[in-house]
Amino acid sequence: MVKLLALLGSVRRGGNTQLLLESVINGAKIAGAEAEIIRLSDLKIAPCMNCGGCDEDGICVQKDDMQQLFDKLLTYDLILLASPIYFMGVSAWTKAMIDRCQALWVRKYKLNKLPGRPRESRKGVFIAVSGMKKPTAFDGAKLTVQSFFATIHVTYIGDILYPGMDVKGDIAKHPSALAEAKKLGEEIIKEFDDPKYKINING
Ligand SMILES: Cc1cc2nc3c(=O)[nH]c(=O)nc-3n(C[C@H](O)[C@H](O)[C@H](O)COP(=O)(O)O)c2cc1C
Repeated sequence: MVKLLALLGSVRRGGNTQLLLESVINGAKIAGAEAEIIRLSDLKIAPCMNCGGCDEDGICVQKDDMQQLFDKLLTYDLILLASPIYFMGVSAWTKAMIDRCQALWVRKYKLNKLPGRPRESRKGVFIAVSGMKKPTAFDGAKLTVQSFFATIHVTYIGDILYPGMDVKGDIAKHPSALAEAKKLGEEIIKEFDDPKYKINING
């Protein structure tokens, strides 16, 4: 069974990011996945202080809710990272969590001791909405996500992106977004073991 970790970086309850993410999860569950969803704004995750405390052992010295995420980030089969676009990047809650993965970056790239499975056996998907319809709306965030997925040792298999979703509920008014997302959630699980499987929705 595929174990899925969904990280929700939107603070707006019932907002566009949440609805889109929940649709993907619903599809994934139909295909048999087990899902855990975490709203990052419910956790206390301080920004990385660049204190160097993780430099020797890859263990973050800041003792807050990030400590409960490190293991999950390294063990779940599928990571769904969902964020609204804020100032051309991911939201602050999402970015704080990502920056705290500096400790994992140290483990992987400096100490060569990131535990666990081959990168190909774990996968990551970026899910995002933006208010504007600019073709570049997701570019900045995607670079951050690419670096995050590499650091936590998952294969970035693609994106589910919907631009032009500004007002709360816009995504539910889109003619196909939520149904597409659900279908894709199901497909991601069914195709989970196919190394060539990639997704790309930019609605
Ligand atoms: C602080 C802030 C910054 C934003 N920056 C952008 C932006 O740079 N580009 C954009 O297209 N939309 C931007 N938006 C719009 C949001 O991406 C949009 O409202 C989205 O639907 C929010 O998702 P949510 O419903 O999950 O909160 C911004 C919204 C906020 C609150």
